[in-house]
Amino acid sequence: MSAADLGIDHALFANVFMFGNGKGGVGKTTLTGNAAAKSAREGLRTLAIDVNGQGNLRRELGYGEQDEGEAFAQSMRSGTPLVPLTGVRENLDVVVGGRKVRDLNDIFVSIATSQGPLPAFLRLAQCLQPLLPKYDAVFIDSPPENPNLLIMCLAAARWLVTPVKSDSASLEDGLKDIASSFGMVKSQINPMLTLLGVVHFASPRNATGIHKDVEERAKKILGKVSHTFDTVIGQSEKAAELARRPGFFCPVYELHERRKAGERSIPEAATALSEDHDALTIEIFERAQMLRSAT
Ligand SMILES: Nc1ncnc2c1ncn2[C@@H]1O[C@H](COP(=O)(O)OP(=O)(O)OP(=O)(O)O)[C@@H](O)[C@H]1O
Ligand SMILES: [Mg+2]
Repeated sequence: MSAADLGIDHALFANVFMFGNGKGGVGKTTLTGNAAAKSAREGLRTLAIDVNGQGNLRRELGYGEQDEGEAFAQSMRSGTPLVPLTGVRENLDVVVGGRKVRDLNDIFVSIATSQGPLPAFLRLAQCLQPLLPKYDAVFIDSPPENPNLLIMCLAAARWLVTPVKSDSASLEDGLKDIASSFGMVKSQINPMLTLLGVVHFASPRNATGIHKDVEERAKKILGKVSHTFDTVIGQSEKAAELARRPGFFCPVYELHERRKAGERSIPEAATALSEDHDALTIEIFERAQMLRSAT
C-alpha cells in the first residue's frame, strides 16, 4: 500500500513547510508564527497548523485559547478536512492546537491498530489535502519528542526547516531524531519530502565561528549536502519574551511597528529581530522555489 492508494497526492503539498527538530525549545513555534505572519503580509493566503498540546502558537499570533484544539482533534479522529480559525490576520488562518491535541497520539494508535501504520502516519496529510487549493503557503509547527506525531507532520509536508541552538542537545540528539524520522518518511511514505535547511536560532548574529562549527556538526548528522540558511535569528530574550506576554502575543514585526508608533517600552532589539524573521521567511520561499524549479 502507498500514499497514492490512500488518495494522497504529495505533488499537491508543494507549499507546505514544517518546522521540526527532535528536541524541544529550539524555536519551532516562534519561527512558525513569524513566518506565517510574514507570508500573510506578503499577500499570500497562509495557513498555520499548531500540532502542540500546549497550543502556544496562540502566543505568537494572539487568538486566545479558542476550542483548545478540539476541532483539530475531531477532524483527525474522523479523517475529515481540517477546520481552521479564519481571519487571525489578513490572509492568515490557523488550525488551533491546545490540550485536545494531546489526543492525537491515541488517535494515531487507534488508526494504526485498526488500519495499519500507513493510514495512521498519513492522517494529517489526509485531513490537510482538501484545504491545499485554498492556500499559497502552509506552515506546520511540529511537536517535540513525539515520534508518531513528528512522522505525521513529515508525511504532510514538502519542506522541512530545522532550527537549532548551538547547544549539544538540540544538535546531536534533536538532529539525530529528526534525521532518522526524515529518512524513514522519505523512503517509505513521502518521497517528495525535502530538507530545505537548518536555521541558527537565538544566536548572536556575528558569532561566525560558532555558526561554522554548528553547520559542520549538522552536516555530519544530516548529510554533506544539507543547507544552512544565511539568515541567523539573533538572540534577544527581551524582545522574544515581550512578544509572548499578555497584551502583546504578536509576531516580532508587530512589536517593531508598535515601537515605531511610539511605544518606547519596546526594546530597540525588536527591529533587528523582526528583520531576521522577515529575511528568513523570504530565504525559505526563495530556496523552495529554486529547488522546485530545479526538479
Ligand atoms: N530571538 C530570540 N532570542 C532568545 N530567545 C528567544 C528568541 N525567540 C524566541 N525565544 C525564546 O526561545 C524559547 C523557545 O522557543 P519556541 O517556543 O519557539 O521553541 P519550540 O521549539 O517551539 O519549543 P517546544 O519544543 O517546547 O514547542 C521561548 O522561550 C522563546 O521565548
Ligand atoms: Mg513549540
